[in-house]
Amino acid sequence: MKTRVTALLSTLLAASLALSGCGGGREATTTTETTAGTTASAEGFASDATIGVALPWLGTQNWKEAEVMFTEQLTEAGYQPLVQAADNKVPQQQQQIEAMIEQGAKAIVVGAVDGTQLGSVLETAKGAGVTIIAYDRLIENTDAVDGVVQFGSLRTGQLQGQSLLDGLAERKGDGPYTIELFGGGPADANAPNFFTGAMEVLQPKIDDGTLVVVSGQTEFTQVATPDWDNAKAQARMDSLLSGFYSGTPIDGVLSPNDGIGRAILTSAKQAGQELPVVTGLDAENESIVSIAAGEQYSTVAKPTQDLVAKTIELIDAAQQGEELPAPDETVDNGATEVGIYQLDPIVVTLDNAREVFADDPDRLQYLS
Ligand code: BGC
Repeated sequence: MKTRVTALLSTLLAASLALSGCGGGREATTTTETTAGTTASAEGFASDATIGVALPWLGTQNWKEAEVMFTEQLTEAGYQPLVQAADNKVPQQQQQIEAMIEQGAKAIVVGAVDGTQLGSVLETAKGAGVTIIAYDRLIENTDAVDGVVQFGSLRTGQLQGQSLLDGLAERKGDGPYTIELFGGGPADANAPNFFTGAMEVLQPKIDDGTLVVVSGQTEFTQVATPDWDNAKAQARMDSLLSGFYSGTPIDGVLSPNDGIGRAILTSAKQAGQELPVVTGLDAENESIVSIAAGEQYSTVAKPTQDLVAKTIELIDAAQQGEELPAPDETVDNGATEVGIYQLDPIVVTLDNAREVFADDPDRLQYLS
């Protein structure tokens, strides 16, 4: 049976939501002003050690970038990288991590398929003295994690929610506006957090009648997209449009990432709808093209190179046998307080895209 921190947290969250009137999802309990770092490995390890990187899948651009950048940057730093992706399958990821331990990895970076399902393999790793860094996604219910490197997940959702409101005002005249909501894959701790952040912004506007969710589907469990699968999101959008919007325009859609955003736009086009305002995440090349064409309204950039660089900084500290630097915040992962090294995501629309990608020629080329 799958025991999840979600169950406990959602009970707690339900209580707080009852007070605040916010949408669902699990929420990170954060405290600021953390000063002390954690000791990853008091003795350090060889400067050419094997470093494992276990990625969840390669289905979105950010993970493909992570695969390439970890391989290149760990090699440049003198390590031997062992980078693998798990095709969204928990047992596959557990086996990959086991193999990394057997091959003597001194640090393992994990982008979890399901952050609640890695406790036992990571405890084995910890027992072998391995430094464990959660990458992009939280690892839950275990103290076998030395730190989390990510872009703020609640902040990301808040930016998506605000951007939906801004896009509606810009493109759809005065409200009230008809909208629908989409969430990401429920096994990924980021997905409910993105949704919670977005609903902090959107719920008051639903309550005052500015936004109308015509389907009435406003709970994370109703709007989540299993496995972050674009095809599943498109199928849900098709049925929302045929069930609730025949003869009615849809003004906006909250999308948790770019792939799902483009699937929503495809569905709307096929249904003969005027394009709704659609948000996104990852600043994927195809979405930059869509934004430049005036279709997708916005995305949120979370540059992979910055996240990889931050991760390697922590690995270097562990290699030297130093304490990890002080984290920005801590999060209760259901078993312990884990330090979060948090970077700032940036909302991108046609208005600021050139500025945001000024130093990113790969992305800049898609704007012209
Ligand atoms: C990442 C997103 C990505 C999604 C699906 C999330 O955990 O933060 O960048 O789009 O997974 O791969």
